[in-house]
Amino acid sequence: MDKSIQDAINKQIGLELYSAYVYLAMSAHFAEHNFDGFASWMRSQAQEEQGHAMRLFDYLLDRGAHVDLGAVKAPPEKFGSPLEIYEEALGHEQEVTRSIHELYALARDKKDFATEIELQWFITEQVEEEATAETAVEQLRLAGDNPSALLMLDHQFGQREG
Ligand code: FEO
Repeated sequence: MDKSIQDAINKQIGLELYSAYVYLAMSAHFAEHNFDGFASWMRSQAQEEQGHAMRLFDYLLDRGAHVDLGAVKAPPEKFGSPLEIYEEALGHEQEVTRSIHELYALARDKKDFATEIELQWFITEQVEEEATAETAVEQLRLAGDNPSALLMLDHQFGQREG
């Protein structure tokens, strides 16, 4: 495998693990503020992110490439309202999408067809991740400051399958 692709995939593993860290921090924040449904949603999201990291981890190993894990930076410590948190999650997903697209462009440039195919799963996944976060943001916008609407959404988000 081309070294630049190997490095970029290792960097992507770090970004996926950082994503898991961000969602775990959001989950803890929600749990501490008695929004158990949002907390559970964020915990499931963190697990998904770990799954994304492991998918790339296994891919590198399958290709006989080197896994080079770097430091994962600390997630934010302070969070705003549920709406602001989901807006932050959406912004984060958009950043992940950009990173996957750059990686795909690099694989194409280097004619690494196997990596292109591997990344197609991530491209599809990011469409879903952004759509899910966008729906959450829109629903929270509708709920506004209405406590009963927020509690109803908290309950609804808590139904997400792990
Ligand atoms: Fe792994 Fe939510 O991007």
